[in-house]
Amino acid sequence: MRVTAAVLERPGEPLVLRDVDLGPPRPDEVLVRLSAVGICATDLEFAAFFEAPAVLGHEGAGVVEKVGDHVTSVAPGDHVALSFASCGRCRPCLTGTPGYCLRFDALNFSGRRPDGSSAVSMDGAEINAHFLGQSAFADHVVVPARAVVPVGKDVDLLLAGPFGCGFQTGAGGVLNVLRPAPGSSIAIFGAGSVGMASVIAAALSGCTTVAAVDLNAGRLATARSLGATHGVTGGETAAEELRAIAPDGFDYVLETTGRADVLRTAVESLAPLGHCGVIGVGPSEEMSLGWRSVLNGRTITGIIGGGAAPQVFVPELLRLHAAGRFPVQEIVRHFPFERIGDAIEATRSGAVAKAVLTF
Ligand SMILES: NC(=O)c1ccc[n+]([C@@H]2O[C@H](COP(=O)([O-])OP(=O)(O)OC[C@H]3O[C@@H](n4cnc5c(N)ncnc54)[C@H](O)[C@@H]3O)[C@@H](O)[C@H]2O)c1
Ligand SMILES: [Zn+2]
Ligand SMILES: [Zn+2]
Repeated sequence: MRVTAAVLERPGEPLVLRDVDLGPPRPDEVLVRLSAVGICATDLEFAAFFEAPAVLGHEGAGVVEKVGDHVTSVAPGDHVALSFASCGRCRPCLTGTPGYCLRFDALNFSGRRPDGSSAVSMDGAEINAHFLGQSAFADHVVVPARAVVPVGKDVDLLLAGPFGCGFQTGAGGVLNVLRPAPGSSIAIFGAGSVGMASVIAAALSGCTTVAAVDLNAGRLATARSLGATHGVTGGETAAEELRAIAPDGFDYVLETTGRADVLRTAVESLAPLGHCGVIGVGPSEEMSLGWRSVLNGRTITGIIGGGAAPQVFVPELLRLHAAGRFPVQEIVRHFPFERIGDAIEATRSGAVAKAVLTF
């Protein structure tokens, strides 16, 4: 079928709206008509170097149009949010942590299905797609059934997409991995869409000190409105400010900027026996820590997808949202799909924490 997609024609260049061909779903795949798709920082990072032409986008939500012969988890007409792909057969998948699937990179970042094919063709040739299981910068997508999360018909499909990546990642880093005790302290580095979801989750967990750290004063103000008890300006003075807030160190810290210098400050801000979660990806490729900064019982855990099984965790977060306790709508701004360039610019500049494109 002919669909409209925002195509990365050359790495680093703006996405271009193009008519492309979308093949039918394979036996284990689902065709979804998208209502909306969020923009995640990871899309922008991959747009700088991903092998083009390609379709990015991985926070889709919409309505199932068709399912492959082996799919029993959803049916046409079901409302769904989309998440990442996983094999379902390896040890991490079987133990409920598909974000650590042994085939995660091949299934999510190769641009192809495992057999080397792509569901998306342009000008008669297959192009890279299946990005994070989706390639949802398009009005329709073909996704593996394991990436599909059924949601109730009462769920707002214009808001559900980012639950499959950014919101799940930030909230899950706190609720599934760090699991802070009530009354504990946490510092969250980076108050973008991921960090904001972490702030809400930390407040929900009963953390009584929640420090949000960012360079953007507007984001710090928003973080405070969502439950942060302190807003700390990032950069050279951050460590000192954090010491004033928690003189014995924080029980938990979470890194969502992808910067090695910030990670170092985060680890050094921990109390002995404290736990640091690492979520950010890029611009740093390597981390460097003082040897002694990790000797005193500190733990550092890398986290993908919030350490979650999306079919379990996304509905939980949606229930919290419906109850008014996960108010992520406060950081969302909608743009029509045709204005994807403006939405990306607003994301890059920091003006909007979570841009969501509507179809
Ligand atoms: N591990 C995963 O599964 C996963 C999933 C989704 C996103 N991510 C990554 O998480 C990160 C956050 O995503 P996002 O959508 O919130 O991105 P974002 O760009 O909206 O947020 C990052 C924030 O960090 C702030 N920042 C930059 N430099 C800083 C500094 N020196 N000190 C303090 N703050 C600083 C920015 O102002 C921004 O608000 C990205 O790197 C993204 O690629 C990881
Ligand atoms: Zn993402
Ligand atoms: Zn697996």
